[in-house]
Parts: sequence; C-alpha cells; structure tokens
Amino acid sequence: MLNSTDAAGRKPLRVLVMVSGGGTNLQAIIDSVGDGRITNTQLVGVISNNKNAYALERAKEHGIPSMCVSPKDYETREIFNTKLLEAVDGFAPDLVVLAGFLVVIPPEMIRRYEDRMINIHPSLIPSFCGKGYYGLKVHEAALKRGVKVVGATVHFVDEGTDTGPIILQKAVEVQQGDTPEVLQRRVMEQAEWMILPRAIDLIANGKVRVAGGRTEILP
Ligand code: GAR
Repeated sequence: MLNSTDAAGRKPLRVLVMVSGGGTNLQAIIDSVGDGRITNTQLVGVISNNKNAYALERAKEHGIPSMCVSPKDYETREIFNTKLLEAVDGFAPDLVVLAGFLVVIPPEMIRRYEDRMINIHPSLIPSFCGKGYYGLKVHEAALKRGVKVVGATVHFVDEGTDTGPIILQKAVEVQQGDTPEVLQRRVMEQAEWMILPRAIDLIANGKVRVAGGRTEILP
C-alpha cells in the first residue's frame, strides 16, 4: 500500500507490523497511510503469533500480505525464534512496528533490528512498564495505584523490556469511575492511535535521530 507522496520520488519506508490481537493500532496505521498522515511509507506485511487475531482480517481486507508464526507450532522456543526471524527478514523491512505484539522478541532479532524496531506501550514509561505489564494489566495497575494521568509511549526496542529510547508520549486523564476497559479504550483513542502513526511518519521522513539511549526529533 503506497500513498501519494511516493510520487515525489523518495524511496518509501518498508514497514512490517507485528500483532497478537484485535489490531486497532494496525488499523490506525493503515488509515493513516490511506489519508496521508503517514507519508513515504509502504506497509509490506503483517505477522501475528496468533492465527485467530482479528488483526489478520484487517490486513487481508486491505490487501497487505500477512502470516502467522506461532510458538505453538514449534517444539522449542529456539526453533520458533529462528522461524520468526526468518519470517521477519522475508519481508525485508526498513522498520518493524510492534503493535500489540505480546511475544518476547528473540535477542538476535533485537540486535539485527537495532534502531529499526519500535513498540507501542499503553503507559507513560517509566511508569507501569517492564515484565508483566501488558494490555489490560497496565490499566488495572494504574487504577489500583490511583494515578490521575496515564498515557502511551512509542519507543525503540532494545534488549530490556520497555527500556529503549522514547520517541513520543501522550498523556490521558483518568476519570472518576473508570474501569480498566474504559481507561484502555480512552488511552487507545486519545494517545496510541495518534502517536504510533505519528512516530512512523517521523521515521519515514528522517526526523528521528537516536544517540546515547535517547531520541531527538528533528524539525
Ligand atoms: C495496545 O493497547 C498496546 O498498547 C498493547 O496491546 C494493545 C493491543 O491492542 N501493547 C502492550 O501492552 C505491549 N506491552 P490492538 O491489538 O488493538 O492494537
């Protein structure tokens, strides 16, 4: 899927999106490529670890090549890791986007895609992140702690869990009576679906520089 700015003659960024579930962030990326909020970008593929992920339907509907690589189909984690990396490399991506991909990324893949792999996390890192904090658990923990502001973060992936250089963050207010589900939806609508496409657009247009564990967003 190419958008109109590619006519300018620039080489579009080849983006591979990795998913595990509903794929609302994938949808935000697809829509943003479609309406020009993301420019200079080609969505080359979608990989899911879960064959029933609705995200795979979204990819099909939009004609994006997709496949499932599940740890359940392999005898050992090592074999799965090798197959996953082969699948990723097969798309020859310039950028790998983890959009709700809830599988531990093999260390070899982290090394190979250093500064070329980003993740969306549903909190303001360094709050409510790291091992065990994913999906609804993040929002449950935020409500339990009683914080008044939550949000989302897009960051590069390094060998730690949610420790890589931060690209964009956006805050969202907690409201009286929020349930984890209601808060999750608000964080998606007001933060995730905005900053993940924005980060891809910035990278596709050469606006993100990484140095010393931090990023600089160029004007
Ligand atoms: C999103 O909220 C994303 O931030 C989260 O999973 C959800 C996936 O939703 N990711 C993590 O928790 C990663 N640690 P989606 O499939 O509808 O995009």
